Amino acid sequence: MPRRSPFGTAVNRIDGRLKVTGGARYGADFRFDRLANGYLVVSTIGRGSIRSMDTGAAEHSPGVLAVFTPFNPLKLFAPADAAGAQNWAPLQDTEIRYHGQIIGLVVAETFEQARNAAALVRTSYDARPPAASFEAGFPTATIPPPSFGEPAVQDFLAPGVSSIDDALAASEVTVTGDYSQPIENHNAMEPHSTTAVWQDGHVTVYSGTQSPNRHAGDIAAWTGVDPAKVHVISPFVGGGFGNKATTWSCAPLTVAAAQALGRPVRTVLTREQTFTVTGHRSTVAQTVALGATRDGVLTAVKHDAYSSTSASGGRPESGPGTTSRVLYRSPNLHVGQKVVALDVPVPTFMRAPGENSGSFAIESAMDELAIRLRIDPIELRMRNYATVLPGTDRAWSSKHLDECYRVGAEAFGWARRNPVPRSVTNEDGEWLVGMGMSTAIYPANRFATSVKVRLQADGTAAVSSATADLGTGMWTVLAILGADALGIPLERVRPDLGDSALPNNYGAFGSASTAGVAPGVRAAADSATRALTRLALDNPRSPFHGMAPDDVRYGDGSLIGGGRTIGFGTLLELTGTPAVEATESGPAGGDPAKYAFHSFGAHFCEVRVHRLTGEPRLSRFTTVIDAGLIVNMKAARSQIAGGVIFGIGQALLEGTRVEAATGRFANANLAEYLLPVNPDVPDIDVRFVQHADTVFNPAGVRGIGELGTVGSAAAVANAVHNATGRRVHDLPITLDKLL
Ligand code: MOS
Repeated sequence: MPRRSPFGTAVNRIDGRLKVTGGARYGADFRFDRLANGYLVVSTIGRGSIRSMDTGAAEHSPGVLAVFTPFNPLKLFAPADAAGAQNWAPLQDTEIRYHGQIIGLVVAETFEQARNAAALVRTSYDARPPAASFEAGFPTATIPPPSFGEPAVQDFLAPGVSSIDDALAASEVTVTGDYSQPIENHNAMEPHSTTAVWQDGHVTVYSGTQSPNRHAGDIAAWTGVDPAKVHVISPFVGGGFGNKATTWSCAPLTVAAAQALGRPVRTVLTREQTFTVTGHRSTVAQTVALGATRDGVLTAVKHDAYSSTSASGGRPESGPGTTSRVLYRSPNLHVGQKVVALDVPVPTFMRAPGENSGSFAIESAMDELAIRLRIDPIELRMRNYATVLPGTDRAWSSKHLDECYRVGAEAFGWARRNPVPRSVTNEDGEWLVGMGMSTAIYPANRFATSVKVRLQADGTAAVSSATADLGTGMWTVLAILGADALGIPLERVRPDLGDSALPNNYGAFGSASTAGVAPGVRAAADSATRALTRLALDNPRSPFHGMAPDDVRYGDGSLIGGGRTIGFGTLLELTGTPAVEATESGPAGGDPAKYAFHSFGAHFCEVRVHRLTGEPRLSRFTTVIDAGLIVNMKAARSQIAGGVIFGIGQALLEGTRVEAATGRFANANLAEYLLPVNPDVPDIDVRFVQHADTVFNPAGVRGIGELGTVGSAAAVANAVHNATGRRVHDLPITLDKLL
């Protein structure tokens, strides 16, 4: 009887016990003899230069081994490819580029000694006023280079239409709105850390990263060390959300310090330092203008954004091009983006970078249009449903967004919604109740990935790739995929990841890791079982020796032929072979020139806003996702719920406040940067419409890491409008905006 595959079922995390018992080792948990501790010194002005640093007291403080500053530097090289990261290296000059930048590294025997000494460093500056006001930069904003091949400004106009503004002017109905959101910080539970251990000219770096390979390459580039001599180990990552996809300068600085001191060195960032030494999501100001016929057919979509970046590099949000560009059918379409370079820390990828901000604007605007036209918001979206990527003739490899709307509306009870704003209260009349919905869209990305499958004489199979598990469940996904491809129980699969020495993998970002390893595991398993079959036929000690190739086949962990069924472990033992293995890359799938690849979803939520205090509270959330086949139903639900919670935080709570005079991030801590906690989060009903997307890849699997956070803030804003009649254009939706 064929074994029941765990693929698509709800599987508990195989690393769950390790995580809850403290057995899982994160970057800073690795211990070494003579381990020294680094502590960063950061600038306390926003722009200017360092005149002098008095390090005497720090150097004489107990336990201190070294105080590195621009006056006693470690040699580092600024990264040439600064996409997503900063464009300068610390300690190489005395310039202050932003408040909270690295200006020193104190290394001492203990963390406490290093922290104490860092506080004794006296720095004097020549300060200049930083450019820190986002709005003041609009007039001099510039068009950024293409992001992932998409130009920042694009127009698709019907024949005879001279401009998007003409198309809007000719539309029967128009709605226009400005939308804004503050800087947001990732605030992964695990702060960034680096532990560097040199031996024989090679360095091993323990650090939480989304991409062990990229991290190793980046560290080599920053330090000038031969890439072949940098080994990154990162088995567990306490959240990343894009901020551990690139390398921040604290990592190479620690590697260089360890080399200079001839001792292992570990540097752990404080929560406050993670705000400025690593990345954040840009602040974004957007304008959407929609033109439509009276019966709700879009005739023009115009979506422009300003996003902040840093004069010190990084990657700004790119909203319109990744949402309005791809979301709805419209004969006339304009997307545009400009960036404002400020003297602030460096923006980077943050969960659905671009789709997140863009969807808040377009999905709020679509709600406004629906209200204006008195058309149901789902019906309005269906009247403009795109079946080809707008402006092209490329159909989606698989698109079932219409089913998401249908299934979600049914499960949520959308039909009970009263479309008239401020018309529903709860039983005692204290809370205004509203419902809102929105669309989620995120590109299905494919990056090069290799996987090794190794069949071992003890009957286990090792499945490995240099990807990462940043809480996403990749350890379990690899085990499930291995069990499925080989037809063996989950318990016999030994996954391995989080190590740059494993088969090459771009890492876990762009919601692409599962979609990369899924076809990769299959291809490697096929190759490995073919090698096993050859061994069975060729090896004189094999019971299958000399049989015709067609008479022996692999199935469910065994070789089968001539009336015999022999497990691969037994066969390997009989033939005295420790293991057979194969490394393969997943086949590419359909041609991107012919197809568009995206995942989709629909959010539905109910909010309650207190009649007197304006306090908004979510009471229900339903999200339906179209992302191809789901590998682990339990982890996938968690992943989508986590994305929705990210959106709830964005909608109601989050925002990094920049002090305009100094460029200081004024609430760089978890007391004042508000994140959703359990009472802020209702039950989230997550469902999947599963259609194998075998045009995308042979495994039919797309990604889900970022999708849940696309559109979820708009769903909340739309529900708040339905509850109160107030349209909040400026996130977060705090109670003062509802009074
Ligand atoms: Mo994601 S922002 O690509 O880690």
